[in-house]
Amino acid sequence: MFAAELRVLGQLLRGLPGSGTHAQRLEAFYGPQAGRYDAFRERVLHGRQALVEKLALAPGERVIELGAGTGRTAEYFAERIPTLDSLTLVDLCPALLALARTRTQHWPHTQIVAADVTQYRPPAVMDKAYFSYALTMIPEWFLAIDNAIALWRPGGVLGVVDFYVSRARPTLGLRRHSAWQRTLWPAWFGHDGVNLSADHLPYLCARSETLHLDEQLGSIPYLPGLQVPYYLFVGRKPADP
Ligand SMILES: C[S@@+](CC[C@H](N)C(=O)[O-])C[C@H]1O[C@@H](n2cnc3c(N)ncnc32)[C@H](O)[C@@H]1O
Repeated sequence: MFAAELRVLGQLLRGLPGSGTHAQRLEAFYGPQAGRYDAFRERVLHGRQALVEKLALAPGERVIELGAGTGRTAEYFAERIPTLDSLTLVDLCPALLALARTRTQHWPHTQIVAADVTQYRPPAVMDKAYFSYALTMIPEWFLAIDNAIALWRPGGVLGVVDFYVSRARPTLGLRRHSAWQRTLWPAWFGHDGVNLSADHLPYLCARSETLHLDEQLGSIPYLPGLQVPYYLFVGRKPADP
């Protein structure tokens, strides 16, 4: 276990490779650490259970996770999956999708899809979609949000949990982070291709009707005393006029 932890840390220190397509870079980054992905991220990716609770998944709904990785977040609502119409988990990284396939093999009506979430369109409209720490890893994140909104039925719901930093002068009543936080965290995570942005949250608020917004701080392994900002957002697609 200690050796596996060192492998993850080594990969994080090497960072996301600079060359290749986005999909190739993700595979090169996650492939060597895939076996330890869930155990390590358990201590980093805060608020995933709280997000799925806020989504209030109901029987008969069609649900999609965009950038689902190993499918760990869906496990937080495993007992509800048999009641859903369908659960679709989409990701671009084969090494993580292989773990998602193993995890979901006994879950009813669950599909694993290898695709880019800035473009993927499922055959039917979705009731609920969510991103769990994926938007920060998607260079064209605004296309991913636009595409997610296009997948919904009117009144459909989008949930997002992710790291972020505030603008220097936040609007919309959002929290302000210190200049130090706004400098440290984008630099720290940027090395691994995780882009903490001040724009994701205002864009989500602009593109959908906010149902729930919670700004939080979470601990990071090996950085005692430091806390990184993350948010939980749930928005609704306005009904057609
Ligand atoms: C930090 S991981 C989060 C995985 C998972 N949602 C979780 O909570 O554990 C980010 C994920 O986004 C995926 N990803 C990044 N860009 C993508 C894209 N354009 N299309 C699909 N998946 C993407 C990565 O492959 C990775 O699995």
